[in-house]
Amino acid sequence: MHIKNVNLETVIGITSDLPKNDKMEVAFAGKSNVGKSSLINALMNRKSYARTSQQPGKTQTINFYNINSELYFVDLPGYGYAKVSLETKQKWGKMIDRYLMKSEMLRLIFLLVDIRHEPSENDKNMYDWAVRYGFNPIIIATKSDKISRSQRQKQMAVIRKKLNVIEGTPIIPFSALSKDGRDEIYEYIQASLEA
Ligand code: GTP
Ligand code: MG
Repeated sequence: MHIKNVNLETVIGITSDLPKNDKMEVAFAGKSNVGKSSLINALMNRKSYARTSQQPGKTQTINFYNINSELYFVDLPGYGYAKVSLETKQKWGKMIDRYLMKSEMLRLIFLLVDIRHEPSENDKNMYDWAVRYGFNPIIIATKSDKISRSQRQKQMAVIRKKLNVIEGTPIIPFSALSKDGRDEIYEYIQASLEA
């Protein structure tokens, strides 16, 4: 997959209508600060086109990146950020739910979890929820540069077990620093485009 043109085409908030896209959408979900926007930048070969931050809660809208006029990357707000009000959490939760339920062009969901930690109940709920809506999310274990190679294998098993993923579900370790795992992610996107 060769990404030539990227354009942040649509940004939606809690009250905006979903865009009526006619190209496939690929969504990136996961808790706040897990690395969704960083992964999108790595895939787009851009340093900071999608805004990232050390502070959780950076992305507060749903951002649609038009990729090569061929598909969209959809950057979702993170869930589970403890420091925002319950009202804000519910607002973001509703935005994510509404998008996952209503989008007609959503074909692929990547669920990001931090490779260092056991997935949370929120992660588990997110996974189960997507499965209930007929998706088969691919798991990305982010920030793989933060642990050793042997720890990685161990953590992948922890993630697989906690999320109780559907048999055959890929879990891809990824690092936004080294770009390790990026080619494998491209392959799944390409396969989805060709499906
Ligand atoms: P929200 O928009 O708040 O939901 O967060 P996000 O999931 O989009 O996370 P973001 O991409 O903004 O990254 C959060 C922080 O983690 C930033 O400081 C990134 O630089 C850092 N980060 C993301 N991916 C990696 C990675 O693979 N390795 C390392 N070491 N740091 C990373
Ligand atoms: Mg973000």
